[in-house]
Amino acid sequence: MSNSIEIQKPQLPRFVNPIIGMYDVEVNFDGYKALNNINIDFSHKGVQFVIGPNGAGKTTILDAICGRVKTSKGKIVYKEEAEIQNRKPEEIVHLGISRKFQNPTIFNSQTVFENMKLALLTGKRNIWYLFRYKITGEQMDIIDETLSKLNLLEYKNTISGSLSHGQKQWLEIAMSIINDPELLLVDEPIAGMSPSERDRTGELLTSIGADHTVLVVEHDMKFVSNFSTSVTVMHEGRIIDRGSFDKIINNQQVIEIYLGRQN
Ligand SMILES: Nc1ncnc2c1ncn2[C@@H]1O[C@H](COP(=O)(O)OP(=O)(O)OP(=O)(O)O)[C@@H](O)[C@H]1O
Ligand SMILES: [Mg+2]
Repeated sequence: MSNSIEIQKPQLPRFVNPIIGMYDVEVNFDGYKALNNINIDFSHKGVQFVIGPNGAGKTTILDAICGRVKTSKGKIVYKEEAEIQNRKPEEIVHLGISRKFQNPTIFNSQTVFENMKLALLTGKRNIWYLFRYKITGEQMDIIDETLSKLNLLEYKNTISGSLSHGQKQWLEIAMSIINDPELLLVDEPIAGMSPSERDRTGELLTSIGADHTVLVVEHDMKFVSNFSTSVTVMHEGRIIDRGSFDKIINNQQVIEIYLGRQN
């Protein structure tokens, strides 16, 4: 694949060698442009937030990157080597992009270990195969290591349905990173969490961001200010600004459209 991606309307300084580049991307829902000529890129590593008022297009950005919604225009380029717009979600996962959804999608009746095993074996479609499959020692180590990263190792044999809300979210994050994705997409990870669970989640995302790129949609400004390495601000399907938290909160347009509103 060619390395020369044509950038037609740069709005913001570009990164050298971004993990994701979006160029003139449009998502059109029956005539409504949920993404309207998006030109943005995201650098490797760190915890990069996408913020903006309700309906700004934040979830749609994640959906477009992971292949869950179709783009009607533009290019989404992964690691400057693969165009991924409108590819099948399973193909995109295979390239190293993992998505954690807002609502937990774990099997409540299964143990934490069983959920991790299923996540590890994703892509092997036959359900009978999945349940009968005996994992290797090496695979067990990967599960243990990942659970330990998310502070869940002691819950390995616990039925997942009995975990707290925060722990279920962390289990899902563990399941999302078990296949070692380069890019993790996370939508509103701290909704419904207690203050201490929020802080713990921020710390966990920060530690994941040391080795992976984490792209997080979030409303909670305190959380964004505490844990962001960069912030992208959206409004009505467009990018308004991108930079450090201190930079974006001093942007008058951002103050008007976002920070001034009651959350
Ligand atoms: N499948 C769909 N069909 C039609 N319109 C949609 C669809 N998904 C999203 N939209 C619309 O696109 C716009 C952007 O939605 P999106 O979910 O990306 O917003 P958001 O920034 O994530 O908002 P929130 O903070 O409320 O989660 C909204 O106006 C929404 O109503
Ligand atoms: Mg959303």
